[in-house]
Amino acid sequence: MNRLFCFLVLIAFCEGFSNENLKNAVHIFNNLLPKNILRVHCISDEDDLGTHFLSPEETYNISFHDSVFKTIIYCQLWQGNNFKFFKKFLAYRSGGAIVHYGKQNFWFAKEDGIYFTHGQKAPKLEYTWTNVSLLKG
Ligand SMILES: *[C@@H]1O[C@H](CO)[C@@H](O)[C@H](O)[C@H]1NC(C)=O
Ligand SMILES: *[C@@H]1O[C@H](CO)[C@@H](O)[C@H](O)[C@H]1NC(C)=O
Repeated sequence: MNRLFCFLVLIAFCEGFSNENLKNAVHIFNNLLPKNILRVHCISDEDDLGTHFLSPEETYNISFHDSVFKTIIYCQLWQGNNFKFFKKFLAYRSGGAIVHYGKQNFWFAKEDGIYFTHGQKAPKLEYTWTNVSLLKG
């Protein structure tokens, strides 16, 4: 009986936290020049989130709950003529033992690089683009 009670409390607790506001999110903004399409491909520890194409001023949002173990999301971005500029980066990482609720990661693709903020501060340049033809070397 006690065990069942514990189980039910746990379920109720988890249900409470499946509220949208408490989900974590990664937002990717295309802040490139007009006509410059941003190609986005993100992969989490659980899913391949597929390829998306964003026009300037469009946003791609991923929202999710931290898993009990570890949540990581890698994103790859391409832009420019023939998508010749590329960057792969860690877009989200859960805090190990700490499960986050409502954590927001904002990434802005601009001509000079990729900017990042959690939302409180102004976005800061985090990564610069790599010329894809130099990668193939
Ligand atoms: C994505 O998130 C941004 C920032 O919160 C919001 O402005 C935008 O409307 C969202 N877009 C979609 C398609 O949900
Ligand atoms: C990218 O690298 C290639 C090969 O070195 C070079 O020809 C090209 O000009 C570079 N493009 C840009 C935009 O830097």
